[in-house]
Amino acid sequence: MALRTAVRELAPTRRRRDWHAVRSLADGLTTPLHPDDYLRFVNPLWTSRELRGRVESVVRETEDAATLVIRPGWGWRFDHQAGQYVGIGVPVEGRYQWRSYSLTSTPRRRGRRITITIRAMPEGLLSEHLINGLEPGTVVRLAAPAGDFVLPDPPPERILFMVGGSGITPVMAMLKTLVRRAGEGRWPLPDIHLVYSSPTPDRMIFRERLQQVADEHESVTFIPVFTDTEGMFTLDRLDDAVPDWRERQTWACGPAPMLDAAVEHWREAGLEEALHLERFSLEIGDDVGDGGTVSFQNSGKTAEVEPGTTVLEAGESAGIGMPFGCRMGICHTCTLTLVNGSVTDVRNGDRYDQPNERIQTCVAVPNGDCTIAI
Ligand code: FES
Repeated sequence: MALRTAVRELAPTRRRRDWHAVRSLADGLTTPLHPDDYLRFVNPLWTSRELRGRVESVVRETEDAATLVIRPGWGWRFDHQAGQYVGIGVPVEGRYQWRSYSLTSTPRRRGRRITITIRAMPEGLLSEHLINGLEPGTVVRLAAPAGDFVLPDPPPERILFMVGGSGITPVMAMLKTLVRRAGEGRWPLPDIHLVYSSPTPDRMIFRERLQQVADEHESVTFIPVFTDTEGMFTLDRLDDAVPDWRERQTWACGPAPMLDAAVEHWREAGLEEALHLERFSLEIGDDVGDGGTVSFQNSGKTAEVEPGTTVLEAGESAGIGMPFGCRMGICHTCTLTLVNGSVTDVRNGDRYDQPNERIQTCVAVPNGDCTIAI
């Protein structure tokens, strides 16, 4: 009771500096339990153990897509860059399910709301739940913003955005940021062409807002492509749609076949450097790492794995109850200690070979034999 009263007296201003006072007070009052265990009863966003946020509203964008407006808790100290994604963990049937989604909000000062826009995928139970089953007020876990699908500062003078389906989400954040910063006088608004494919006008996320931006800014050209009636936007149409595409820096996001075709097209033009891609899933080639024998210290179990097999998959194949969440290197749920040996992080090629290093097993492939503490 004393703790609740004290916290209430300190909390109403909700200023970040009060947090430290509250936690210091709680530390003294709650030993030996962690103060977070008590503070969560007062406000579920108060925790220093993990990033949390509260869903403030769910805004319908199309029949199968919605924007979640999330107020991050006090541990959120990030000013993301437009185009980055964030991990979100949601309790579903007693277990946290993790996914990553592009932030559609513009970078702002710390502590403001963030938004992510999600399309329900036919096989995606979590995306369906996020759109149709998530009540405002739900507390979710968050992972720090990440990703290098971002614009340079200052941006290039001529930009081509080429997107398909929900690939518009990181580009929407970029476009809003470009317009806002131009309005603030930070840079002139670049010459922007946006080629955006969607089956129908009704399914095109942000269609009206994009048209409005193009109507208000002469240097923004919006080229919607409705594939149910016009067919797919194949790249032999690019010369007509955007004649100067070779002189533009291009950011492309969408389904894998679209991006594969773009890679080929830009490579044939000798312009690989001008193409920037965002793919929706982590692809691990079967030639990454050396494979080897992965030993699991506590159980004494082992798994022989081929190159391209993650430590997480190795543990699962050996029947170990491996912890995991997103399986994409976002949530850190899978982090374990590498007792000995060497692994490579498939996202960036970083090598881990120091005894007792912490590794994310879902993105780590063995370089020969190694031992994991579990
Ligand atoms: S399972 Fe989320 S980082 Fe590995």
